Amino acid sequence: MQTLLINIKELLQVRKIPVDKLSGKEMAELPTIKNAFLLIEDDLIADFGPMEICPPTENLHLLDANGKMVLPAWCDSHTHIVYAGNREQEFVDRINGLTYEEIANRGGGILNSAKKLHETSEEEIYNQSKLRLEEVMNLGTGAVEIKSGYGLSVADELKMLRVIKRLKENYPIAIKATFLGAHAFPTEYKDNHKGYIDLIINEMIPAVANENLAEYIDAFCETGYFSVEETQKIMEAGQKSGLIPKIHVNQFNAIGGIEAAVKCNALSVDHLEVMNPEDIEALKNSNTMPVALPSCSYFLSIPYTPAREMLNAGLPLALATDFNPGSTPSGNMNFVVATACIKMKMTPEEAINAATINGAYAMGLSETHGSITIGKKANLIITKPIASFYQLPYAFGSNLIDTVILEGKMI
Ligand code: NIG
Ligand code: FE
Repeated sequence: MQTLLINIKELLQVRKIPVDKLSGKEMAELPTIKNAFLLIEDDLIADFGPMEICPPTENLHLLDANGKMVLPAWCDSHTHIVYAGNREQEFVDRINGLTYEEIANRGGGILNSAKKLHETSEEEIYNQSKLRLEEVMNLGTGAVEIKSGYGLSVADELKMLRVIKRLKENYPIAIKATFLGAHAFPTEYKDNHKGYIDLIINEMIPAVANENLAEYIDAFCETGYFSVEETQKIMEAGQKSGLIPKIHVNQFNAIGGIEAAVKCNALSVDHLEVMNPEDIEALKNSNTMPVALPSCSYFLSIPYTPAREMLNAGLPLALATDFNPGSTPSGNMNFVVATACIKMKMTPEEAINAATINGAYAMGLSETHGSITIGKKANLIITKPIASFYQLPYAFGSNLIDTVILEGKMI
């Protein structure tokens, strides 16, 4: 099946020569072709270029994109989409003055979600989660990473990962699974950290690896959660079973997690709301992608990742949603891109690069996703008619998406 998009006002993120990630300096530019065509064959991008060299249109399914922009679908490299129920009460508690930390210390937060997940059947969790996945696909997301971490027991972590596996099998969207058993200490291990870490290392990781349920391993490296040493120990065990580290660090405190993550060659370090000069230094010349989650900063009213400082230091940066019931009940990458521009002073070019090609890198998908390149997945956003791509972050909150194409098909 071939589909030809014609008269595209501007085709964004065009990479004839594939790149795996972009440095801070490279992110300043977003290569585009004005008045372009794009040919889709089955699920892949087969050709593209200026309209002057557009192939003959006979026998092709034609889509006229007159006045519209086309860009690669968003690559959301950090989510917790699989969960049970919601935490609206905690949201109201925060409005009334409690902090995220105080709520967690009272047994709310992650432990609240773990309790709800435990009480909900796998089938019901799947049904709730698939609605969120469908929602983000309609918002232009074409690849997504999903974490476990609301199980916190062998059985419930596996339950979450099996739901992720089922989503992978049933939807035309690339999904990468991350095992996040080290998300919080369950109440019964509150004073026995060693016991829970032994459970993660001796039982959870082998079970996850045995069923081949995850590509990545994560930990919440933070004061009151997992220390740098505990995180390192868990990452080492994961790596022995073939899991690649991708770590929550520097959300509330800078405790040295970034240096440790770089040492174990983590694919990404995520959150980074609080950054020391040493943290920036540690990331230089590494393969680790820093990932900012501006919707989390927005929702919790905590600092935004100092993107300008990091980009000016030459570091690459990816943007993701962090979609989860506690700190970010939103999976809207359009909002993430707009917020990165408005609150983090990223330019539209930088933000779009961060939400496409660098996002793909942060989940190991840059060979197949994140740019308009021949042979990559035909995962595309077709915008409504707009004057310039600056409108995407500028008109924040407006829905400027006309059509989403995933793996060659309109959704
Ligand atoms: O990325 N920071 C740790 N984990 C999640 C939030 C978890 C929750 O509150 O449910 C995050 O923000
Ligand atoms: Fe997260």
